[in-house]
Amino acid sequence: MNLGQVFTNEYVANYMTSLFSIPKKSPILDPCFGEGVFIKSLIDNGFSNITGIEIDYNLFQCANKNFKNLILLNRDFLMSPCKSKYDGIIMNPPYIRHEEINELKTYGITKEKLLNNKLFKDLTPKSNLYMYFIIKAISLLKINGELVVIFPSSWLNAKNGDCFKRIITKNCFIEEHINISGNVFNQKALVDVIILKIKKSKNKKPTLFKNFNFDGKEIYYRNQPPKIIIQFNKNFTEIASIKRGLTTGYNEMFINPPIKNKANLVPIVSSPKQIKGYSIKDSKYDYLFELQEFDLETKKYINAYENKIISMQKPKTLFDKIISNDKKWFFIKPTKYDGIVFSYFIRNDIKFILNESSMVIRDNFYVITPKINKYILFALLNNYYTYYQLECVGKKYGNGLLKIQSYDIKNLTFPMIESNSDMKKLEELAKSLIKTNNEDIIYEITDIISKYTNVSSTTICEGYFSIKKYRLEEKI
Ligand SMILES: C[S@@+](CC[C@H](N)C(=O)[O-])C[C@H]1O[C@@H](n2cnc3c(N)ncnc32)[C@H](O)[C@@H]1O
Repeated sequence: MNLGQVFTNEYVANYMTSLFSIPKKSPILDPCFGEGVFIKSLIDNGFSNITGIEIDYNLFQCANKNFKNLILLNRDFLMSPCKSKYDGIIMNPPYIRHEEINELKTYGITKEKLLNNKLFKDLTPKSNLYMYFIIKAISLLKINGELVVIFPSSWLNAKNGDCFKRIITKNCFIEEHINISGNVFNQKALVDVIILKIKKSKNKKPTLFKNFNFDGKEIYYRNQPPKIIIQFNKNFTEIASIKRGLTTGYNEMFINPPIKNKANLVPIVSSPKQIKGYSIKDSKYDYLFELQEFDLETKKYINAYENKIISMQKPKTLFDKIISNDKKWFFIKPTKYDGIVFSYFIRNDIKFILNESSMVIRDNFYVITPKINKYILFALLNNYYTYYQLECVGKKYGNGLLKIQSYDIKNLTFPMIESNSDMKKLEELAKSLIKTNNEDIIYEITDIISKYTNVSSTTICEGYFSIKKYRLEEKI
């Protein structure tokens, strides 16, 4: 059973303990102490009035032997009543996805029970278990009490993130928000984490943000990651060309028109949100008005818009066409959209998507037409060497947003793949990425490309993830 047993490194625990500004005699709680790293750190730092809770009997027994004179309890923190209030609470709560919470039934914890509890009424059913821990911990803080907690930063980007922040800050404020990279846990845990120092007080102050790196022994301020120089000898323009997707010039008229005749409606992919994975095939779409059958309904529709454009004298391009007596002012020029599609505003991951069904694509995307085998091009685009180059050149728009211009794509460089067997492998991997959306394949593609450069695949992956993390954290 998953009890979320990922244990904090002692150096990180010491750093977290050092964030308390409460007197040493204050009552402090660790509501899920695991192997007791925070308890040890609190004792080492002069705190003595410590209470610990742990649900796992074996861990509890171990700690009970090691730490005398403390109140250590073997029970569930979430559902058990707690009468005492604390000046300090320190914790690394269990990270358990909402789908797995019911597996804790033997401990008396189910999602239904949690959600029926008044304390958690503001949480959504999709909340991770750590969110319940944080809310309960806040409820047990005295006025001016402090909660120091380490937990995944993914909630910052999650849909329910704003709601969770509102709950946290209802009676408290976030005094310190610390982004910490490096291996902060004793096990390898693939999560990005933050440390928050939350204070229960009506007297709210602005949050202090810090970016730190942990190298296994020391915590230090983090600057922008150093640049990696990649030298490939093929330019983008040798292997592909690029253009913007379709611009209607008047979306109100051309996108999702209220027209019944399906012959005049063509599916069009408008937004990255409509696309799942690496293929356009199963995406959602809007409809584009593209005249095929000139029936009465369509005639009326066009006439109504003609009058509107004339009276508003805009959009200018259409107005000019109408007054110059262009009878085909409402026709949209057909273009080819097959190839590879790329959304130039990046929020999270960079992704090049195959448009094998030649769907019409809107101008929120670039359409890349291959000059070489489309699957090889797809692999050359979807790997960490290319993603890294784009992260470096893209323009930051704040809030974690990155904008890639078409000249950024044109300036990309690629290796010259010489071996036939590598070509074959890249083609197979591309097809498999399109079919399965399994992002591990991107590592495999990166590995093959690494044969053509001095920059190893590990270096480029680390470089890419740290520069991306740096961008996303700037949103704070
Ligand atoms: C992420 S670990 C952290 C342990 C320790 N605080 C540390 O940082 O090394 C979470 C701990 O919470 C315990 N746990 C899980 N569910 C619990 C619950 N409902 N009540 C109390 N402890 C719980 C787990 O057994 C685990 O030891």
